[in-house]
Amino acid sequence: MKKTIAIIGAGGAMGSALSKSLAASGHHILLMDKDSEKCHKTYDHIFAELPNADIEILNCIHEGSWEADVIIPAVAYEIQQEVADYIKDVVTGKIVISLINPLNEDKSKLLTSSLSSAAEELQGYLPYSKVVKAFNTIFPSDLKSITHADCFIAGDDETAVATVCSLAKESGFVPQLAGNLSASRTLESMMLILIQLCRKNNIPESGSFKVLFSKS
Ligand SMILES: NC(=O)c1ccc[n+]([C@@H]2O[C@H](COP(=O)([O-])OP(=O)(O)OC[C@H]3O[C@@H](n4cnc5c(N)ncnc54)[C@H](OP(=O)(O)O)[C@@H]3O)[C@@H](O)[C@H]2O)c1
Repeated sequence: MKKTIAIIGAGGAMGSALSKSLAASGHHILLMDKDSEKCHKTYDHIFAELPNADIEILNCIHEGSWEADVIIPAVAYEIQQEVADYIKDVVTGKIVISLINPLNEDKSKLLTSSLSSAAEELQGYLPYSKVVKAFNTIFPSDLKSITHADCFIAGDDETAVATVCSLAKESGFVPQLAGNLSASRTLESMMLILIQLCRKNNIPESGSFKVLFSKS
């Protein structure tokens, strides 16, 4: 079913790639960023390839989050709380997708303790929303090119998790249910490992996870 999806940070690497991918699936996408110039670039880029895309630019993150069924803060971990505080009163009952990885500046370690995760912190800031971890182990370039990679999904609300599974599937990924929201601790570490593997192999950040189940 067609959803209205608000992307906060739509001018950034992950925000613009995900906006395009979700627009290609026919959803109504609301593009929002601190810098509206960047949103215009994302808008033009999507329209060049998808002239029928249902996308619009909104200047107000609060208004966009109020309009949306699903909200995706595609901003740095350091900005997460600021964004959450800003949208807190308009996301009650809504799905908020956490793709944020709490990495330090040189992406060599996590900024969260082993007993928490960015996604669980977000749920704490937005107690009346349904936070679901997803898309955090996927690089923006691979949102455009890789198909059938796994997209790990973790959350406490079954219906919200099912909705996010559909979004991942429509974007060309294989949704893998990773558990409740606390599984985000593992999922956020997985991106750290993927980045380290790219560095060790001297390749640009790319590649994704695929679990190979044995046939019984
Ligand atoms: N890039 C990846 O490989 C990747 C993969 C998976 C997950 N992620 C996660 O995705 C998130 C975004 O990463 P990214 O690489 O896309 O970063 P990015 O390119 O820097 O994009 C972040 C965007 O958010 C904007 N922004 C900053 N503060 C804002 C605010 N208060 N309200 C609205 N927009 C704001 C930024 O604008 P300014 O630049 O003007 O500050 C920028 O356009 C991170 O949490 C990251 O961990 C990234």
